[in-house]
Amino acid sequence: MASVVLGVLISGRGSNLQSIIDAIEAGKLDARIAVVVSNKLEAFGLERARSHGIKTVFLDPKFYKGQPNSREAYDVAVLDVLKVHDVGLVILAGYMKIVTPVLIDAYEGRMMNIHPSLLPSFPGLAAQQQALDWGAKVSGCTVHFATEGVDEGPIILQAAVPVFEDDTVEDLSGRILESEHRIYPEAIQLYAEKRLVIQGRQVKVLPNRSSA
Ligand code: GRF
Repeated sequence: MASVVLGVLISGRGSNLQSIIDAIEAGKLDARIAVVVSNKLEAFGLERARSHGIKTVFLDPKFYKGQPNSREAYDVAVLDVLKVHDVGLVILAGYMKIVTPVLIDAYEGRMMNIHPSLLPSFPGLAAQQQALDWGAKVSGCTVHFATEGVDEGPIILQAAVPVFEDDTVEDLSGRILESEHRIYPEAIQLYAEKRLVIQGRQVKVLPNRSSA
């Protein structure tokens, strides 16, 4: 019996979504994806989900444009979908839309994001390019709980990767992505095992009782 019901929000390629699907199918992640929601019709992640028999929903932001508080109105629609599917944990996986308090408050402490840098370095867009521009010698990725401040929430897991002098942004992105695909399912599994305790801006990871 899956212990966590996931709702995954995507906008594109969906390789992190795939790593979560793979971890579940390999029996490494005690979770079930109830629904994948995209704000982009062409998101390849939608196809990935469908090919694994996972329900998908496309919500078109254009439909809400012009309405008062259109971003909030959009998130009310997303929230409805998540609730209908009994989602317990929301996974932002390459979701290129700023999430409003409508969702953040409803899923406080129950929404995760992954970012391709070692936060708090290089938040926002083009994190890998920022690392190259700064001449960073090490970069990586961060899984954190989502809060109102973009890329600012309590850090759950991080992985470091080297930055080489001749790296292109594609080289570095690919190296970071390999780590993303490892730590996102791990972080979700820690949540499934109820081992994550948020204390202010910190997340304590409780020891694994089954291996003690
Ligand atoms: C990843 O690099 C993730 O860290 C960032 O957006 C990218 C999404 O890739 N938030 P994918 O759609 O999961 O392949």
